[in-house]
Amino acid sequence: MTTPTAEITLRRPDDWHLHLRDGEMLKGVIGDTSRHFARAIIMPNLVPPVVTTSDARAYRDRILAALPAGDRFEPLMTLYLTEHTSADDVEEGKKSGLITAVKLYPAGATTNSHGGVRDIEKAMPVLERMAKIGLPLCVHGEVTTPEVDIFDREAVFIDTVLDPLRRRLPELKVTMEHVTTSDGIDYISSAEKNLAGSITTHHLIINRNAILVGGIKPHYYCLPVAKRESHRLALRKAATSGDARFFLGTDSAPHVDPLKECACGCAGIYTSINTMSCLAHVFEEEDSLDRLEAFASLNGPAWYGLAPNEERMTLVRQLEPVAYPAKIETGAGPVTVFDPMFPLHWAVAG
Ligand code: NCD
Ligand code: ZN
Repeated sequence: MTTPTAEITLRRPDDWHLHLRDGEMLKGVIGDTSRHFARAIIMPNLVPPVVTTSDARAYRDRILAALPAGDRFEPLMTLYLTEHTSADDVEEGKKSGLITAVKLYPAGATTNSHGGVRDIEKAMPVLERMAKIGLPLCVHGEVTTPEVDIFDREAVFIDTVLDPLRRRLPELKVTMEHVTTSDGIDYISSAEKNLAGSITTHHLIINRNAILVGGIKPHYYCLPVAKRESHRLALRKAATSGDARFFLGTDSAPHVDPLKECACGCAGIYTSINTMSCLAHVFEEEDSLDRLEAFASLNGPAWYGLAPNEERMTLVRQLEPVAYPAKIETGAGPVTVFDPMFPLHWAVAG
């Protein structure tokens, strides 16, 4: 038996940055999202990537087919921007209501990003069209220049790519995804319009020590890589501030354990299953439980021009920790669940 010690109710949350993958992995992970989240922005970095509106339509159908019976969940589709993307196809995707955003991966920045953009000049016609029709650009904000230290890649991206792009196309709506630095937070906070940022669950909880102290810990490795503690504190402050420019994007990114626990492990942390428990813990620590709804359920839809969900979710704090599995089993193999390294006492009711 569990003993409730507190509870909060919020509108059902959404996840504004999610990797669902495909095939057996998709079937294995989607229920962890649809159990708690009404909608999610679905990342297009499949192999091969989701490049055209017709790719996105087919992928959406596969996602809906994999949903557990009875779950209501709306996948919000994105297109993977390449140097050959057609502006007309992008516009068609938006007009048909299928496409919510276009994703910019600098080539080589992260998992399955080799087909991304090398020369932003080549993507300008599409970006200009997006600015015109009001379609947001989701950005993986890291440069890939080999000379730039991996811990500096976000800050350098802001100065050398993002800021020049926004000056050139001020009408383009840009979501800076998975912000990991105080530089990112400051940049977003200083923007007057057309810029917002998503923050992951794990970047509110871990700093880079989690990856490197006491042995190398592949299940804390993701991209952008977690930074030093001062950055984590800046992220926490922004997420719990209530500022409408910041919202949840879990970046839950499942990889099977053998692909993480090896000499060249993949980047990605799997958090869909315990994100809401983790967030309630963080917001309670920051004395901001009353702002969890803004972060997880209100600011994201407002930014993307959608109504917040009408359904409610209740979180209950119980004396006994919530038992989450250490791993989930999928048809593709086992996937380790994010361990926040503290017991989780907030449970999603029902
Ligand atoms: C993501 C993945 O595995 O697809 N990995 C990650 O570490 N976040 C890609 C990404 O969003 O960078
Ligand atoms: Zn991601």
